[in-house]
Amino acid sequence: MDVIGCCRLLATFTEEPGYTTRTFLCAPMREVHRQLQSWMERLGMSVRVDAAGNLRGLYAGTEEGRLLIGSHLDTVPRGGAFDGVLGVVLGIALVEALDGRRLPFSIEVIGFSEEEGVRFGIPFLGSRGLAGTFDDALLAKKDARGITVSEAIRAFGLDPLKIPEAAMDTGAFGYLEFHIEQGPVLESLDLQLGVVDAIAGQSRLELQFRGQANHAGTTPMHLRRDALAAAAEWIAFVESEANRTAGMVATVGRIAARPGAGNVIAGEVTASLDVRHAGDDIRRGAVERILAEAQDVAGRRGVKVDWQTNLEHAAVACSADLSDALRRAVAAAGLPVHRMVSGAGHDAMIIASKLPVAMLFLRSPGGVSHHPEEAVRVEDVDAALRTGLQFLSVLEERRD
Ligand code: GLV
Ligand code: MN
Ligand code: MN
Repeated sequence: MDVIGCCRLLATFTEEPGYTTRTFLCAPMREVHRQLQSWMERLGMSVRVDAAGNLRGLYAGTEEGRLLIGSHLDTVPRGGAFDGVLGVVLGIALVEALDGRRLPFSIEVIGFSEEEGVRFGIPFLGSRGLAGTFDDALLAKKDARGITVSEAIRAFGLDPLKIPEAAMDTGAFGYLEFHIEQGPVLESLDLQLGVVDAIAGQSRLELQFRGQANHAGTTPMHLRRDALAAAAEWIAFVESEANRTAGMVATVGRIAARPGAGNVIAGEVTASLDVRHAGDDIRRGAVERILAEAQDVAGRRGVKVDWQTNLEHAAVACSADLSDALRRAVAAAGLPVHRMVSGAGHDAMIIASKLPVAMLFLRSPGGVSHHPEEAVRVEDVDAALRTGLQFLSVLEERRD
């Protein structure tokens, strides 16, 4: 199959015409499922959607045991065509490349319903379902329109009470995720592929700054309690805190100011915070300093600040054993082996609590991701497929 063409076709199923925006179980996700299902069924796979909204296609093997290959089908707002989706389409292309041959283990290709955390502020809803770590409290979380996770699942025709049944059984022995690198490292080294050793930990929070909305023309500067000015001062600190620490990235990617008029001092601001580092203690220390600064700035400006933590995930190591098999596969495909750490979060982080995981990165042209210009090269897709086939051979040999 034309992997890149398939990803570009799926990118047209969107909540926002002209862009690719697809959040948890939105209406266009049905079209994505329908299309993937037809490609899978053509290859003799049996397909179902579990109660967490994950699309799951099984290519049966001749013996017990199952390798999972997956990634996510949701996107960030105005995202690209390859983040997540490529890993699912490559899984199907790998089954196609077997040309009907059955392996001594099954392959289950999984399109996770949610990884980005866009709709409900909480990421990994799909992979948590599969890992059996979907906390019931998540069902009550609301999106911007006041719809709960539970209602969104029901609106898609699924039963949230059955989420425990989405958890993987004991037959699975490993998880492989293909993903674009989403950064510039492979391209700068003139490499096509990278094998991920570990995925950086992340903290995601939401802060509320509460001051006093008032008239922009009549309120003297020294008598203001401007929530947006407080947030702005704090945001500049977030950037400088990250700049001070090697390997740290910290981002305020979304702010909302209310009441939101040019001639009204902002009374209330909500702001997101995303902090990542390969070292968990270093990341936690930075989050503490950033929150202390928020309190300090707010205190000086007569503003109150509160926050909630939406995600606090430790760095995750990929399986030494499965990654060794993947490195051997890269070498057998005739490519240099490059090991790296992922700064982006991936479904593999969640699955790693239950199964050995391995991840293969494909070079990201221009290092661009979470953007409509996100791309992947045809020769890198071919290299990933060749590596995938070698990986299956390594696993087959191990069973002999
Ligand atoms: C997922 O794309 C992330 O934000 O790392
Ligand atoms: Mn992403
Ligand atoms: Mn992704």
